Amino acid sequence: MRSNHYFSVFCILFISLLFFSCSGKQGGKDSVDSKVNALLSQMTLDEKIGQMCQIDPGAIGGQEKMEEAVREGQCGSVLNLFGAREVNAIQAIAVKESRLGIPLIIGRDVIHGYRTVFPIPLAMASSWDPDVVREAFRISSVEASSQGIRWTFAPMIDITWDPRWGRIAESCGEDPYLASALASAMVEGIQGDSLNDPTSLAACAKHFAGYGFSEGGRDYNTTYISEPVLRNVVLKPFKAAKEAGAQTFMSAFNDLNGVPASANDFTIRQILRKEWGFDGFVVSDWGSVEELISHGYAENEKDAASKAINAGVEMEMVSRTYSDNIKQLLDEKKISMAQIDEAVSNILRVKYRLGLFDNPYADTAAEDLLSASSLAHARKTARESAVLLKNSDKTLPLSKKINSVAVIGPLADAPRDQMGTWCFDGREENSVTPLTAIREMIGMNRVKYVEALEYSRDKDTKYFRKAVDAARAADAVIFFAGEEWSLSGEGQCRGEISLPGAQSELISLLASTGRPLIVVVMAGRPLAIAKELADADALLYAWHGGTMAGPALADLIFGDESPSGKLPVTFVKGAGQIPFYYYRKNTGRPASAKSWTPIDSISRDNQQTSLGYRSSQLDYGYTPLLPFGFGLSYTTFEYSDLTLSSESLSDGGTLTASATITNTGDMAADEVVQCYVRDRVGSITRPVKELKGFQRIHLEKGEKATVEFVITPENLSFFNGTTTVTEPGHFDLWIAPDSESGLHGEFSFK
Ligand code: BGC
Repeated sequence: MRSNHYFSVFCILFISLLFFSCSGKQGGKDSVDSKVNALLSQMTLDEKIGQMCQIDPGAIGGQEKMEEAVREGQCGSVLNLFGAREVNAIQAIAVKESRLGIPLIIGRDVIHGYRTVFPIPLAMASSWDPDVVREAFRISSVEASSQGIRWTFAPMIDITWDPRWGRIAESCGEDPYLASALASAMVEGIQGDSLNDPTSLAACAKHFAGYGFSEGGRDYNTTYISEPVLRNVVLKPFKAAKEAGAQTFMSAFNDLNGVPASANDFTIRQILRKEWGFDGFVVSDWGSVEELISHGYAENEKDAASKAINAGVEMEMVSRTYSDNIKQLLDEKKISMAQIDEAVSNILRVKYRLGLFDNPYADTAAEDLLSASSLAHARKTARESAVLLKNSDKTLPLSKKINSVAVIGPLADAPRDQMGTWCFDGREENSVTPLTAIREMIGMNRVKYVEALEYSRDKDTKYFRKAVDAARAADAVIFFAGEEWSLSGEGQCRGEISLPGAQSELISLLASTGRPLIVVVMAGRPLAIAKELADADALLYAWHGGTMAGPALADLIFGDESPSGKLPVTFVKGAGQIPFYYYRKNTGRPASAKSWTPIDSISRDNQQTSLGYRSSQLDYGYTPLLPFGFGLSYTTFEYSDLTLSSESLSDGGTLTASATITNTGDMAADEVVQCYVRDRVGSITRPVKELKGFQRIHLEKGEKATVEFVITPENLSFFNGTTTVTEPGHFDLWIAPDSESGLHGEFSFK
């Protein structure tokens, strides 16, 4: 009897434990769903429609209009409202004055920091450090939530092959594997350990899908993406974001294979909902439902609303086609009540998970902006994000005992520019510039500063003389080059991707002084910098590094730490080489040094067939300026002893590849060790290389470590146009410091 009793108690405990552990982070799906259903059953149609509308205070016509809409239950979310008091005031109207008291979800673009600004996402991707990135997004969420924000339109995880596209700055670059690892880290950082923690924000994976493939790199433009590229490249980071628990997705502006992304049943209903089982909600991008009309995909606003709802876009950002047309669409049976109920349930589910019903208000005492630890992390992130692209004769690091340094250039003291694009809430007075940090590091009187060009596009050469004189008088010259913040980001696309203004001209003049010339590039995209790379003795690509860019760069320039970033995008020689990405196909006629005839060596009487007939360009050749994954260090690393645990991998098995990495230089540093694979033959042609793993390791001087990568059949799978398969055959594998070198091995999959 007694033992039976113990047994039942044990069972109850076990079942409860199981229930609580399964319900895990999201507070119990069943209990949330029963609350959602109970609330839904009390809602009028108008209230349901209200939940599907997101308003912007400015766009709706001001504070009063916004308050009225909230009071009447005509909106489920407000974006671009911030400040704990302001948010609490509008939330009080929603909770206390609207009929059902449904709280609002307050959204904002917190893309790479709130008040503490982290490096732009493309820079953070250069760190190849998911832990550091996760923490950066955690800090951003803590800061933003203290201002009443509980939903961020991040992470932006559009893969792109086009540096002309301004939004490359917001992306993780070209590679689906790296972007997926970072997407997960970003979602984890944003959403924290538990969604209903008041510092957790709902993440929004954007822009779904294909936005980064806009033709010509012109923002908002058409995209044509084959299903294999869509599934093997574009969708990979989105799948990772979903698996990390991202609560919302944003439908993009672009037209994807003829169907705008914001009315795309295939990507939203078929892939996101059915195949991946997403149970959060989908918000449109700003006005993208209404824009279905400009796309020529909808006749009018009613048609636009119908198409977006049918495709599964559940909340409309800013445009008003839902509020104005849903009732009529229901009457006409163009959409169903079941679709509306599903949309509203998905929205309410996220609000419940965030704990908004229990705790709708921001804690006005919680403000936690720019704390010392946040700034320290911003400095570390910026340090890890900088990529050393050249360092002849160990020009860097400079000694702190150096007598004099000439600091020159438009980005040396540009507090707003260094914060980069998508930075609504950072303040330039909080930015510490490289000039300030260098002065602090070696003393004011050893630094001679000549701005020379007032801003990046400046073409006025009147201060060039002064700059050259300062360079001649100094022991070393540091030129801070780059782009203003407003030359990258949404709608900020370029046709040429060279350094703007007269910067390049000045760099050549400075090089001709013969003084050691260090060029630091602070930009929002990978610029075509072949000439500057040749002119400089050392070149550090620092992107827009955020609030703490200055101190981070001083740490690197004066050798407190070694640069350790690696490129998350291929650097092209010029815009005419775009697109150029490392996981390109081999083609039937790959070029080589032997086949390529540079344009200047073509003889006047050459014959039609004498130019190789290989896949290359007469001017740029067949290689990029710098490969994906590339980045130097102040120390040197030797790669040796590649070992594969077996010659073949079988279904259900694993294969371990390992190599020894030794720090053979004279300084402790981090190295990002990369693992690439090539599938030699496929049912559709396969890329020449694909990243399958990476690890950032720290090695003291002389230290060595064995780095292991586990390969599974799943790692090797791909969508071949019909299905996802891992095909038997031969594979190459590299453990490498970048995508073009490394130790090579082989294995087969049987
Ligand atoms: C952008 C989105 C952003 C939204 C809200 C749009 O213009 O494309 O990325 O989240 O505005 O600000």
